Amino acid sequence: MLLRDVEPGDVDAYVRMRCDPAMMGDLGGPLPREGMEAKVQRDVQGAAAGTDWIKMIVPDKAEPTAVAGTVTLWSHDNDAERISEIGWMVLPEFQGRGLGKQGVRTLLDLARDDGRWGLIHAFPATTNAPSNGICRSLGFRSLGEQDVTFAGRVLRTNHWTIDPRMDLR
Ligand SMILES: CC(C)(COP(=O)(O)OP(=O)(O)OC[C@H]1O[C@@H](n2cnc3c(N)ncnc32)[C@H](O)[C@@H]1OP(=O)(O)O)[C@@H](O)C(=O)NCCC(=O)NCCS
Repeated sequence: MLLRDVEPGDVDAYVRMRCDPAMMGDLGGPLPREGMEAKVQRDVQGAAAGTDWIKMIVPDKAEPTAVAGTVTLWSHDNDAERISEIGWMVLPEFQGRGLGKQGVRTLLDLARDDGRWGLIHAFPATTNAPSNGICRSLGFRSLGEQDVTFAGRVLRTNHWTIDPRMDLR
């Protein structure tokens, strides 16, 4: 497994992840197909600028265009506070093989070495057993349940945080 920056050719993977009812079941339902090219373009620019880390999970380095999923780390305003947040998705045919956990672990290793991200937050839906399992097993601390607005929808989530310099297992 390796992580590489998002590229313009990743539109199909974005559509399969973000416009699919099963993939988006815990995230409020599928997003509209139109707008995915623009979303990839924004993400490519954000990744190139280094402001956001938007990585594709590649199971086999010999085939870098074959993507299993994505792991993203970005900063945003949350109420009055600026926070770092990590999120992830793995396509159905690649789920249950440890790729999600390995991808998150790899990005947290990079964040620890980079040093700029501070405390990192994650907000998986309370109903998403594998995502909460990833947080628990990598050393995130649970801060309890929280409602979070994502793409205009209110989701019930578990709020987890990790300091990758101290907590990463
Ligand atoms: C959630 C998701 C990212 C997990 O990725 P994955 O590669 O399948 O997960 P892994 O194989 O790395 O497993 C992660 C952990 O969850 C556990 N797990 C995996 N599938 C599980 C399931 N169906 N129920 C309970 N636990 C499960 C694994 O045992 C592992 O825990 P461990 O290290 O303690 O053994 C993936 O299923 C997914 O993208 N789902 C749809 C979209 C989504 O929900 N995105 C996340 C929004 S926060």
